[in-house]
Amino acid sequence: MEFKTIIEPFKIKMVEPIKMTTHEARKAFLEQAHYNPFLLKSEQVMIDLLTDSGTSAMSSNQWAGIMMGDESYAGAKSWERMDVAIHSLTGLEYVFPTHQGRAAERILYSYLGGKGKTFISNTHFDTTRANIEFSGAEAIDIPIAEGLNPSLIHPFKGNMDLQKLENLIKQKGAKNIAGVILTVTNNSGGGQPVSMDNAKSISRICKKYKVRFFLDCCRIAENSYFIKHRERGFEKYTYKEIAQEMFSLTDGAIMSAKKDGLVNMGGFLALKNKELADACKNLLIITEGFTTYGGLSGRDMEAIAIGLEEVFDANYLHYRIRSTAYLGEKLTKMGIPLIMPIGGHAVYIDAKTFYPQIPVNQYPGQTLVCELYLAGGIRSVEIGSVMFGKYDKKGVLIPASMELVRLAIPRRVYTQSHIEYVIEVFEKLLENRKYTKGYKIIEEPEFLRHFTAHFMPAS
Ligand code: F0G
Repeated sequence: MEFKTIIEPFKIKMVEPIKMTTHEARKAFLEQAHYNPFLLKSEQVMIDLLTDSGTSAMSSNQWAGIMMGDESYAGAKSWERMDVAIHSLTGLEYVFPTHQGRAAERILYSYLGGKGKTFISNTHFDTTRANIEFSGAEAIDIPIAEGLNPSLIHPFKGNMDLQKLENLIKQKGAKNIAGVILTVTNNSGGGQPVSMDNAKSISRICKKYKVRFFLDCCRIAENSYFIKHRERGFEKYTYKEIAQEMFSLTDGAIMSAKKDGLVNMGGFLALKNKELADACKNLLIITEGFTTYGGLSGRDMEAIAIGLEEVFDANYLHYRIRSTAYLGEKLTKMGIPLIMPIGGHAVYIDAKTFYPQIPVNQYPGQTLVCELYLAGGIRSVEIGSVMFGKYDKKGVLIPASMELVRLAIPRRVYTQSHIEYVIEVFEKLLENRKYTKGYKIIEEPEFLRHFTAHFMPAS
């Protein structure tokens, strides 16, 4: 018999207290943080939905693995286990450990990038884009049109636009395309999955023009869940087999293991081609560490090897995807405009629709982020014009295509009652919705401004 309630498929063995705060205290904390929740101290936050990255709770098995960590500089047993786990998952020959995803990005994209080069993606994540642009190359996003329509229901809104891909390759010239990067699930586009069919077509196009095809696979297990349940022909596959099939289409993969690796730190770069791998190996040794530890300690590598197994567990994935959907479905019922359908690791709120009175240059997303913190001590992140906005020559804001707020759910960390509380806080926000005012930026760096920018209430 199927029950309606999906229980967390784990028991809690260790707890971390949450410091309770008052509305008054939070007002002062937010002002001190210049209205940028990235600048809050974590103890000032009650429910931290800033990111699902590096925030997972590890299993007892992983903690046991930590004690087994082999800290040898070269040839550590823990590296062997991590290498085997990644090799068996990806089928890719050359695997390099890195301290997190962006380190792998820096190595690969700085080598392949540079002036005159173009990278194409369904959507580049912010660190991916920053690494590419920092090298002098350009990064072009071509999600399918459905992916840009928040309320539209489509099973694979993370898909890449194949026609645009082929046109771009022709227009730029295949030799100038440094790589095609498929981000699964598409984080910046709403945590939406990519279908196997789309990945296969991209692979075919890339082969036709001899362009390299990479997977940004940090949420590949979650993507596999959606394929099994939404794409015909995959019903009988295991989640791991689905992931393996997707990797087999590519020339390489970058993973931030801080997501579906179920660890607090780590990542890797995996490649098919020896020449490219040799070039990356040099950069790895210069900037991350020797090839058998990258930027990691032995215990980290041990935890990654175990996490990459655990994440494909059917009960875990069912709980994971359904519990994110639970929050999304409740918010939708209350009339909160969300990206639909609900993504894998997060619920994305369409802040532009939620606060229609706030113009984009007063950042409706940042406003919602601040309101969530003030009302309930919840930390979330803006994925809109603060994160992706640019200025034209006259200094006028070129806004992002959407103004989103992401509630990212850390893996195995919060229980259903924490989520019920989040839902209640939204009820409060609905009461003040019409009277809420926006923010302006008063200080910002050149790259990745959302991390450190300072804001002020606009009025
Ligand atoms: N690619 C994607 C799709 C990501 O979501 C991230 C990180 C990275 C690459 C970079 O990995 O943080 O290990 O260096 N995303 C986090 C987030 C930060 O909150 O979504 P990293």
